Order: sequence, then C-alpha cells, then structure tokens
Amino acid sequence: MKYLVLLILSVSIFACSQNSDKASDKADMYEASELSAMMREMVTFSKKAKATLAAGDIIMEVPQTFYDLSKQHGTRDEHLESAYQSMAPTYTDALHGIERKDSQQYYYDASIQACKSCHGVYCGGPLAVINQL
Ligand code: HEC
Repeated sequence: MKYLVLLILSVSIFACSQNSDKASDKADMYEASELSAMMREMVTFSKKAKATLAAGDIIMEVPQTFYDLSKQHGTRDEHLESAYQSMAPTYTDALHGIERKDSQQYYYDASIQACKSCHGVYCGGPLAVINQL
C-alpha cells in the first residue's frame, strides 16, 4: 500500500507536465500519441452519449477500439505504468455496462468518473473538458 501511494505521487508529479497546454491550444501542432488520439475520440463519444441520454434515447453503440485503452502507447509510456493499468479497466467496465443497454445513465456516469480518477493522477489539464461531460 505504501508503495502504491508513493508510485501515484511520483507519477502525478511527472506525468503530463507540459502536455496539457499543448493539448488545449495547439492540438494539431504536435503529433498525437496513440493514446491521445483515442482520448480525443473518447471525448467525442462521451459528448454524443451525454446528448443521447439527455434526449431520453438509448446509446446504441460503443466504439470497440476503446476496449484496447490499456494497450495504447502514451507520449510518456504511461500505458506501461501500473497506476495506469489498474485504472483503465474501470473505464472499460463502464463501457460494458453501457453496452448492456440497461441503466445507461448509471454506467455513463461511471465512465466519466473513471476519466476523472485517472486524470486525477495523470495530466489534470483535460479535467476542464471532462467536467463538462
Ligand atoms: C486509465 C487512465 C485514463 C483514463 C480512464 C482516461 N484518460 Fe484521458 N489521458 C490519460 C493519459 C495518460 C493521457 C495523456 C496521453 C498522452 O499524452 O499520450 C490522457 C489524455 C487525455 C486528453 C488529452 C488528449 C490530447 O489531445 O493530447 C483528453 C482530452 C482526455 N485524456 C480525456 C479523457 C476522457 C474524456 C476520458 C473518459 C472518457 C479519459 N480521458 C479517460 C489517461 C486516462
């Protein structure tokens, strides 16, 4: 437990120190990592899903590529870290819940909670976007 806390602390200091500025202002000026590219698709999907639920409709599809979240290469090899690996399934579990088409609002909320947990450790920049989802 002690080690996990230390790990999380050290990760949060180093992770994403410059990236959040770049990501928000000049998204196209640098080459996005696999992971960044997927994150952007996740934002788009979540926005649409939120609108769908608000309209009282059912989310019909979840992009299957999102299930590979834990295998996407991050700019700083975040995907190799155990903090990252331990949190990625929280997001994909929520996606499975959405796909069962039962209690979608609950699982949608769980998916956004998963974004927040991971971004509490890794780059906090995108939290501004995530908080609107
Ligand atoms: C398991 C951890 C994890 C989860 C869950 C997660 N993220 Fe991320 N996210 C990251 C990491 C790490 C990066 C940095 C990627 C890089 O720089 O290669 C990132 C980057 C981003 C970015 C910046 C992308 C860019 O343009 O560079 C956005 C926006 C983002 N995430 C939004 C989200 C949203 C929305 C969710 C939930 C639907 C989410 N994230 C869930 C770890 C996570």
